[in-house]
Amino acid sequence: MIDEYNRKIDYMRISITDRCNLRCIYCMPGVGIDLTTHEEILRFDEILTVVESAACLGMKKIKITGGEPLVRRGVADLIHKIKGISGIEAVTLTTNGVLLAEQFEQLKTSGLDGINISLDTLDETEFEKIAGVNALPQVLAGIDRVLADQKIPLKVNCVPLKSAKTGLGDLLSLAKDRPIHVRFIEMMPIGYGKEYTYIHEDEIKEMIENRYGTLKAYKQKLGFGPCHYYTLEGFQGKIGFISAMSHQFCSSCNRVRLTSQGYLKSCLQYELGCDLKPLLRAGATVEEIAKVMAETILIKPKAHTFCKQDFQENEENKLPMSKIGG
Ligand code: GTP
Ligand code: 5AD
Ligand code: SF4
Repeated sequence: MIDEYNRKIDYMRISITDRCNLRCIYCMPGVGIDLTTHEEILRFDEILTVVESAACLGMKKIKITGGEPLVRRGVADLIHKIKGISGIEAVTLTTNGVLLAEQFEQLKTSGLDGINISLDTLDETEFEKIAGVNALPQVLAGIDRVLADQKIPLKVNCVPLKSAKTGLGDLLSLAKDRPIHVRFIEMMPIGYGKEYTYIHEDEIKEMIENRYGTLKAYKQKLGFGPCHYYTLEGFQGKIGFISAMSHQFCSSCNRVRLTSQGYLKSCLQYELGCDLKPLLRAGATVEEIAKVMAETILIKPKAHTFCKQDFQENEENKLPMSKIGG
C-alpha cells in the first residue's frame, strides 16, 4: 500500500507481549510500568488474522518484538504460522537474547529469517546497571548459538548511554571476527527514553575511527529497517546507525506497528491509528480488518517531531517503548 506521502508500506512490526525478563532503565525500569493482563493482549490466532489482513494490503515483512518476545510461550510456532501466510516473505525477531540459546532450535525450524539482539555493553557490571540483572553470559551464549549454526543473519542493537560510553568501542569487537552487524541507535524521547540524552551518530563515528580506522559507507540494504551501514577494514560485520534524531528517516518510512493489545499504530511517535482488538473479538473478517488497517495507513503522519522545540506531550503517544516494541 502507498500512503499519502507516496511511501510504500510493506513492513509490520508486531509486539507480542509487553513483558520482559530485563529491566532496562530507558525502556522498562523496575518501577512504574503496569503490565497488561492476559485477556488484554492479542491471542496468537488474532495476530494471525491481522497478518492475513496485512498481507492483503501488500505487507511482506514482519518483525516480532516485545517487551521481550521470547518470554511468551509458543513464539516459534507463531513465526512458523506467519511464514505460511501467502504474501509474507520474511519474518524477523528482535530480542534481548537472554532466552535465545535455549529456544534457538525451535526458532530455526520455524523458518525465522533474522535475529536482532539488543545489547548495550559487554561489561557485566555495566550490563547489570542498565538491565537490572547481569544476564550477559546468557546473551553471549545466545549469540554463540546463532553463529555456530550459520543459518540466521545476526545483528546487535546498542542504544548508547552517556554513562556506558567508554565501553562502546569494545562492543565493536563482536563485528570483528564474526559476521555480526553492530548497530548504534540514537535514544528516542519515548517513554523512559525521555530521561536520557542521545549520543549523536557523529560522536560514535569519531570514537570508532580513532580506534579502528576509517568507516566506509556501505550502500546495500541489510534488512528492512532504517539503518545505514559502514564497513571497517578487517571487520566481518558491518557497523550500522539508526539515527532517528540526527538523520531523520521518515521520508522513507515503510512500516506500521501492532501493539500487544491490538492497536495498530501508524507511526512510532503518534497515537494515530486504530484499535483492532474489538473488531477481532466481534468476529470481523480478514477483509474487514484489512479495510480498517488501510484507513490507518492513509492517515500515517509525515514525520516525527522528536527534535522540535515545541515537541508536545499531547502529540505523542502515551505508551512506553515496552508496549510499542521499538
Ligand atoms: P532490520 O534491520 O530489518 O532487522 O529491522 P529494524 O532495524 O527495523 O529492527 P529493530 O527491531 O532491530 O529496530 C532497531 C531500532 O530501530 C529500534 O530502536 C527501533 O525503535 C528503531 N526503529 C525501527 N523502526 C523505526 C521507525 O519507524 N522510526 C523510528 N524513529 N525508529 C525506528
Ligand atoms: N530509543 C531508541 N531505541 C530504543 N529501544 C528501546 N527504547 C528505545 C528508545 N527510547 C530499542 C531497544 C531495542 C529496540 C527494539 O528498541 O534497545 O534494540
Ligand atoms: Fe516512520 Fe514515524 Fe518512524 Fe518516522 S517516526 S520513520 S514516520 S514510524
